[in-house]
Amino acid sequence: MPLSRRTLLAAATVAPAAALPAVAGCDGAPATDTTIDPAAPLGLRFPDGFGWGAATSAYQIEGAAAEDGRGVSIWDTFSRQPGNVRGGDTGDVAADHYHRYVADLDLMKSLGLRTYRFSISWPRVQPTGRGNPNLKGLDFYQRLVDGLLERGIAPMATLFHWDLPQPLQDAGGWEARDSAGWFADYAEIVFRKLGDRVPVWLTLNEPKTVVNVGYSYGVHAPGKRDRSAALVAAHHLLLAHGRAVQAFRAVGVKQRIGPALNLAPAYPFEGDDRDAPAVRTADGFENRLYLDPVLKGGYPDDLDIEPLRAVVRDGDLAVISSPIDILAIQYYNPVFVGPGGDYLTKLPTSVAEWQQIYPEGLYDVLTRLRRDYGDIPITITENGMPRADELSASGDRVVDPERVTFLRDHLRQAHRAIAAGVKLESYHLWSLLDNFEWAEGYAQRWGIVYVDYESQRRVLKDSARWYQQVIRRNAI
Ligand code: FCB
Repeated sequence: MPLSRRTLLAAATVAPAAALPAVAGCDGAPATDTTIDPAAPLGLRFPDGFGWGAATSAYQIEGAAAEDGRGVSIWDTFSRQPGNVRGGDTGDVAADHYHRYVADLDLMKSLGLRTYRFSISWPRVQPTGRGNPNLKGLDFYQRLVDGLLERGIAPMATLFHWDLPQPLQDAGGWEARDSAGWFADYAEIVFRKLGDRVPVWLTLNEPKTVVNVGYSYGVHAPGKRDRSAALVAAHHLLLAHGRAVQAFRAVGVKQRIGPALNLAPAYPFEGDDRDAPAVRTADGFENRLYLDPVLKGGYPDDLDIEPLRAVVRDGDLAVISSPIDILAIQYYNPVFVGPGGDYLTKLPTSVAEWQQIYPEGLYDVLTRLRRDYGDIPITITENGMPRADELSASGDRVVDPERVTFLRDHLRQAHRAIAAGVKLESYHLWSLLDNFEWAEGYAQRWGIVYVDYESQRRVLKDSARWYQQVIRRNAI
C-alpha cells in the first residue's frame, strides 16, 4: 500500500485519530433543520460580492484520457505502475467530466457558485508538451469557459495541476532548466486562446507538493526519491511560474495572475515559542521557500538548500518575482514541530491522517501574509476534508456533518481574517466532486457532491445543500 503523501512529510509519530468533535449548535441559535444544516448559522455575513466557489483539477475529474488527441501525462504513467496508487486506480475515467461537463456546469449553477476553479491539462493542449497546439484539446476548455460565463460563474484556471506531459518528463522534467521555457510556451498558447475570458489565472498548483511528494518521497508522480533533485525542481518550478507571468504580460492579457501555494503554519509541538529554530526551519520549508522568491525576490537565507542555490542564475529571481496580481492559497492543516524538527500529531485528523484539523491555522496564515508580505489580494483556492462517504439506502442522500462543520469553522476564520483587514476575495472549497485523490485513488472522497463511479450519477451531499444556503445568504 502506498504511503500517504503528506504522512511522509510528517515522517514521525502519528497518534491515533481521535473522533471528530460532535457537531453542536452554537451561540444559542437553534438549527432549524438539523438534517441538512447540522452546523447552526453563526450569523456572520461576508462582504457583498464575495466569491463563493469550488475547485477541481483536470486529471482528477476529466477521464477521457486518450480522447481528442490528449497526450500521456506523468500521472497516466505513474498510476499504471503497480503499487503507486491504492487499489490500482487511475484517472482514465475519473468522474468522466470531459463528457459530462454540461451537466456539471448546471450542477454548479444550481449550487449558486460564483466562481469555479479548474485546471487545464497540458497534454490535452500540447500532447508532447511542446510544439503546435492540439485544437480539440483547447476547444474543450473554450467550451467549459463559455459554459461558465453563460451561467454567470467566473472561471478561474490553473495552468499546471501536476499532469506534466510524459515526453517532458523523459526530457528531464522539472529538473531540466528548459522546463521553465516549455511551460511559458504552453502558457502563451493558452493565454492567446482564453486569456481575456478568464478573470483569474493561476500558474502552478502547489509546487511544494511536487517538490516534496513527487521528488523527495516518491509518492506522487514522477516518483523520485532524491532530495537534491527535488530542490533543483523547486527552483525550476518557480522559474516556470515567473516565465508564465511574463508571458501573460507580453501577450497583453488584461486579467489577473498568481501562483497557488499550499501553506501550513508551523507551531511548536510543546510550548509556544514560534521562533524556536526547528519551528522556523519548518516554516521555511512549508512557506517561505515559495513565498519569499515570489513576493520578496530572494530565497530565505536560513535554509539548507544548497542544490537549489547551485542552479540559480543571474536574473532568475527577478523573473520569479515578476509582480503578481493575486495570491492563491490552499490550506488544509498546520504542522506541529518537535524540538528535533520532526512533525508530530497533536490534533484529531480527518481520514487523511496527515490532516490535523485546525481552523485557526487559516486565520494565522492569512494574517501572516498581510504582516510579512504586504496587502496583496488573496483567494483561497483549496480547503476541505475527505470522508469515506456512503450513499444512503434510498440512494439520494449523503450525510456528512463533519464536513459541514469543517467548512463552517474554516469560513469563520476566513471571516475573522477579513475583519482583520486581509483582502480575501474568494473561497474555493476542495472539491466540487468526488475524484481521483492521487495516491489514494478513489477511496478518499473529498467532494461536496458524491460521485457514484459505476453509474457516474452525482448526488448532492448534505454539505452541498448547506453550501448552497451559505451562498444564498452570503453568510455562515
Ligand atoms: C491538494 C491538491 C488537490 C487535492 C487536495 C486534497 O494538495 O492540490 O489536487 O488532492 O490536496
